[in-house]
Amino acid sequence: MGTPLIWLCLTLATFAFIRYFFNRSCCKLPGPSFLTVALNFQHLGTVHHPKLLLRWSKKYGDIFQYSVLGNRFVVFNTPETIKSCCSSDDRQNYPHGGAFHVYTHGDYGITGSKYKDWSEQRKLVVRSLRKFGFRGDEKSSQSLGQDVDRIISDLAMACNKPLNLEEWLQLPMMNMVWRMTVSSTLPEDRFPLLLRFQTLFGRSLRSSILLIFGPVFAFLKWELDFVKEYKRSVEGLRDIQKKKIDEHLERHDEGSDPNDFLDEYLTKMKQEGSKGSSFEGATGMKNLLATLMDVNIAGSATAYHTLEYIVLHLLLNQKIQDKVREEVEVAVGKDGKVTLEDTSRLPYTEACIMEMIRDFAAAPIVVKVSDKDSTVEGHFIPAGTYLISNLWGSNHRDDLWEEPFVLKPERFLDETGKHLVNTEKVMSFGAGRRKCLGYPVAKDMLILLISNIVQRFKILPHPEHKIATLETRMSIFQQAPEFTALIIDRFGK
Ligand code: HEM
Repeated sequence: MGTPLIWLCLTLATFAFIRYFFNRSCCKLPGPSFLTVALNFQHLGTVHHPKLLLRWSKKYGDIFQYSVLGNRFVVFNTPETIKSCCSSDDRQNYPHGGAFHVYTHGDYGITGSKYKDWSEQRKLVVRSLRKFGFRGDEKSSQSLGQDVDRIISDLAMACNKPLNLEEWLQLPMMNMVWRMTVSSTLPEDRFPLLLRFQTLFGRSLRSSILLIFGPVFAFLKWELDFVKEYKRSVEGLRDIQKKKIDEHLERHDEGSDPNDFLDEYLTKMKQEGSKGSSFEGATGMKNLLATLMDVNIAGSATAYHTLEYIVLHLLLNQKIQDKVREEVEVAVGKDGKVTLEDTSRLPYTEACIMEMIRDFAAAPIVVKVSDKDSTVEGHFIPAGTYLISNLWGSNHRDDLWEEPFVLKPERFLDETGKHLVNTEKVMSFGAGRRKCLGYPVAKDMLILLISNIVQRFKILPHPEHKIATLETRMSIFQQAPEFTALIIDRFGK
């Protein structure tokens, strides 16, 4: 057994070594050596990956390259270089294969499709989120407002005892995104399935830096078992979606007002399902299933991990928490509900949220692949190169941000303290045409939740539990560490 394994390892190492030299000669960017990458192999695909890339960028520059198993990665480390990288349609697409391929149904949905199809699907989602989001029609904004109220009243029930926020926030926040897409909540008994999918998808994404690009791993037994379970979880989620589609089809009436993204999509399928459209027939249905999945996964996990991290920061920084509370009380009083109309009077709260989003970056690195040979800022990038936007790294550069590891909400306020500045430098939502389409929804969701939570409750460390740190974990996206909070209802309601 030992000898074939040694031969396999030697063959792989030789193959990787030859490709490494080939890559270096056709893409003349500076970057760490074969040995340096090998010595840091264990950090790739973990929370340490963006930190490692930030360290390397100090040594090798704003754009540098490295190779793993013969695959070439070019890393972009500043807002300017990230934007330049994302400026062309030929450098916008996510790498296919592996976990992505299963969940995008092949090449469908927003993250799976390319060019025209991607643009059509994206446009419809953007329009629907505007219509059915927090600032959308009366019915949608009211329902989402009630979801926020429900989170506050649920938290009130959890006061004065040890509270694991992750468990409390996941489901209600996922449900807000479900509401925008299918105007109902996720069946509660299906929640564990969604969580399982996220864990497996996260694990595969983490290792995808190696795995989706290195099919050699696919024949390892543990990988096969893992893939089988992952596929089962995707199928389970798809069944829920299909049920929702059937329900919508039953009551779908073209003349009536749409209630959600799904209604909009079905109307589009009927009206514009012409040849070549991404909404046409079976293609349209595959795109629908994948796009629903995209929005629900990309929208809920990022948002609740970010909210949890913000709450953790507020718990660890009582002065900042008090200042947010003071601002909310001046804007709406001690117990008036905070609505979106009030948020223009909450610049400090908004600056805090922006600072914590900068520090966190739920998706710390984003990987795309170049479809054609091209040039970025004078550097030749051959087709097939993996392009890494180091979003977290860009947010922590000391030449762009004063004391980047210190929490300073004020950096986002002008001298009057009333207006936000510098927000365009924050890369946490990506850049270019593929920038996060949920940015406006995420901002509304976070400011509504944070301002209402801080107004009503005091968030404290639990005295009987170990003090929380800011050491993040990697799940599907970056995630706050586990921590236990003590929530005190300020009004004892
Ligand atoms: C704090 C919360 C959020 C963060 C930090 C975040 C971050 C990101 C990032 C970094 C990307 C990749 C951008 C790129 O490729 O350059 C992305 C894409 C995406 N996000 Fe978000 N996101 C958040 C919330 C949301 C929400 C609430 C939704 C939907 C309701 C959403 C839906 C999407 C979708 C569908 C994509 C893929 C866009 C495309 O490929 O064209 N995100 N997000």
